[in-house]
Amino acid sequence: MQIDVLTIFPDYLAPLELSLPGRARAKGLLELHVHDLRQWTTDKHHTTDDTPYGGGAGMVMKPEPWGAAFDALDIDGATVVFTTPSGAPFTQAMAAELAGHERLVFACGRYEGIDQRVIDHARTRADVREISIGDYVLNGGEVAALAITEAVVRLIPGFMGNPESLAEESHEDGLLEYPVFTKPASWRDLDVPPVLLSGDHGKIAAWRHEQAVRRTAERRPDLLHASHRIDAGDLADLEVRPATRADAGEILTLQKACWVQEAQANAALDIPPLREGLDDVVASLDRWTTHVVRAEGRLIASGRGRLDGSAWDVGRLMVAPDLQGRGLGRWLLSYVEGLAPEGATSYALFTGAGSAENLRMYKKAGYRLRGELDGHPGVVVLTKRRPEQVRIF
Ligand SMILES: C[S@@+](CC[C@H](N)C(=O)[O-])C[C@H]1O[C@@H](n2cnc3c(N)ncnc32)[C@H](O)[C@@H]1O
Repeated sequence: MQIDVLTIFPDYLAPLELSLPGRARAKGLLELHVHDLRQWTTDKHHTTDDTPYGGGAGMVMKPEPWGAAFDALDIDGATVVFTTPSGAPFTQAMAAELAGHERLVFACGRYEGIDQRVIDHARTRADVREISIGDYVLNGGEVAALAITEAVVRLIPGFMGNPESLAEESHEDGLLEYPVFTKPASWRDLDVPPVLLSGDHGKIAAWRHEQAVRRTAERRPDLLHASHRIDAGDLADLEVRPATRADAGEILTLQKACWVQEAQANAALDIPPLREGLDDVVASLDRWTTHVVRAEGRLIASGRGRLDGSAWDVGRLMVAPDLQGRGLGRWLLSYVEGLAPEGATSYALFTGAGSAENLRMYKKAGYRLRGELDGHPGVVVLTKRRPEQVRIF
């Protein structure tokens, strides 16, 4: 790959000479050139900016030096990356895609940005990308070019000694990475989780997967639904995260709406989800791992789990009645299963014997009917063995 960086502050790019791109260069995988845009100015002050047409604060980068630079660098056929806060958000998937390109030319803006015609012109000659590295404004595009270069170069085929280490990283599979540990096993009274010392690869894989799901749910719920492939039809931007007390009122409302259906299906009104009040739901949040799903702010689904011996009890799976039939319930079930901690060897849940829809879904998901719940006529228990080895990626 060849990378050219166009900037009015070439010294800013000095870190590119350091280890990572340096190694890629040594391996013959990367050719890197940093160019001072001012060499393509024609006045004695080497001016690259001017006042904006239409008025307003700040200065705008003039088109002429950019045009001359593009000609000199012969950008035709290259991929030209304009770093800009109004560009497409930079992602790991984008880094992987760019890593397959032969030539990248970074155009680093300054001031209020670059005259729009520069970008429009480049588009007639090259594959143009406008990329943002986050929803904040930097003073110039150099830091963005550095960040993008670093993320891209390490993905160039042949660069990483052990390509497997790439596959397990955050964002590669849509999940954040699980926590990592190294020696010593105990440090300042803090122990490495015993499962990692067990040598049991199946258990280690399951633990890591759970940690990755948990961490993603807590920190980046926006990623979680993509990684778990919710097929909810036209519902975009689902937010999935652990429930807090602030969710309790809506959980209770959803619970009442969902369990009226259950009461009808089982001809039994006196069931806990209908009897419970707000305090019960709030108290349950301490005893259960409860997660909620929101669509455009509205709480549309929820489910919970807790460890009972070696069984992960899955409960209170609910999807707003008007959104049922889109696969959300099925997704929610596997999501709550995925929250099961180390030590759970099976899943268990119960439902009304007359809840035909629920029973169908549970059986499809691999659950077996185990008969009536002790002391609760009309309520049936279903269980499923937890797979020995959960695939992480
Ligand atoms: C002060 S910024 C210009 C911001 C511009 N007026 C706007 O509001 O979009 C100057 C330059 O910094 C770079 N820059 C700033 N924030 C960035 C971000 N989040 N991602 C990528 N580049 C950024 C761009 O190259 C931009 O042209």
